[in-house]
Amino acid sequence: MRDAVTLKDIDAVSALALAQNRRRFLADSRMPCPKVEEITRYLTQESPGDLVWAAQRAGAEPNGVAVPVVIEYPADSDALAYWPQRNGTTAAVYVSGRSEAECRAALYCLLQKLDAYWRSATPEGVSFMWPSQDFEAAGILSKFGIQLDAFFATRDASSRPLTHTNPPNLKIRPALPRDLSSLIRLADEVVAAHIPHSPFARPTVSIGDRYRERLNAQWKNRTLNGSRPVSFVAELDAQVVAIADCLIIEEGSSVGSLVRHGKYLYVNSFAVAECLRGTGIGAALADHVHGKVLEERCCGSYLWFSAYNRGASNFWRKAGYVPLWTSFQRRCES
Ligand SMILES: CC(C)(COP(=O)(O)OP(=O)(O)OC[C@H]1O[C@@H](n2cnc3c(N)ncnc32)[C@H](O)[C@@H]1OP(=O)(O)O)[C@@H](O)C(=O)NCCC(=O)NCCS
Repeated sequence: MRDAVTLKDIDAVSALALAQNRRRFLADSRMPCPKVEEITRYLTQESPGDLVWAAQRAGAEPNGVAVPVVIEYPADSDALAYWPQRNGTTAAVYVSGRSEAECRAALYCLLQKLDAYWRSATPEGVSFMWPSQDFEAAGILSKFGIQLDAFFATRDASSRPLTHTNPPNLKIRPALPRDLSSLIRLADEVVAAHIPHSPFARPTVSIGDRYRERLNAQWKNRTLNGSRPVSFVAELDAQVVAIADCLIIEEGSSVGSLVRHGKYLYVNSFAVAECLRGTGIGAALADHVHGKVLEERCCGSYLWFSAYNRGASNFWRKAGYVPLWTSFQRRCES
């Protein structure tokens, strides 16, 4: 079912990628825009898989191209809380056309080919990312059983802080080794808060183990896989009542980047103890995290939130996070 695109097609694919990137940048100036040389190098040397492509008619240049891949997460990965272990996805997707109708038709044809690829690779699920401000893709994806999952949202360093009154006696500070059991318990509460509502969240034993690794790296002042962990706790009457598990990351300008090149703070996990939610602790901690963004001279921060987590969706939008990418999923059992 795969059509290999040969070197002579690479120029056409690069032109398609540039046209798409222009459209996406006009809709949202936060979108990464790799240069044509980067796209060409990626397609010819770095692409992790074959290209599949769709053309408007036989013999025409492609107006939809993708690089499908199957990602295998290690059995002890904390990503398994939200993604299947063998996940069919794409390393790159390019769709363009002279009109939105043409773009939509190209996406539909491309998804037919991707779907055939994924089905033949028998993953446990499929995920697909689409820019939140590009043309609406949810209806097309639903025809393939791929449904809304989550948002990848960013907050610019220059965005104004929240206006709120801090709860009295609330102290926010870096996480310390003596906080460990509270930190792990609160990290587990994040997944637990998703499970009743999200069709995709699953209990995962490795959440605590991976968080311990990040905390140990923070306490030893080390980087972990190229990023620098920074966790904060909010303390009320000497009790840890909230955590912000963050990483400082230098993002490059590779073809698969979700954000533009720069230094960012990634909020990996964030929770307020269940009995104290809705009292302003989350807002105070989010403000503190934004202070770290400024202190580190990051260009901004980013995070994921589930479309099914109503509390987090409201909370992060109020905290100034704007969706940049929308993620969709299908599980094999669904
Ligand atoms: C999401 C969460 C961190 C919010 O923290 P919080 O301390 O409860 O939030 P705050 O009391 O500081 O509220 C800040 C703002 O968000 C809004 N908000 C918070 N929770 C909300 C909810 N469940 N529904 C609607 N709005 C909500 C508040 O109304 C408030 O808005 P306002 O300033 O206009 O009044 C917390 O509910 C939580 O830990 N949830 C479970 C874990 C989780 O989902 N983490 C986020 C993962 S992405």
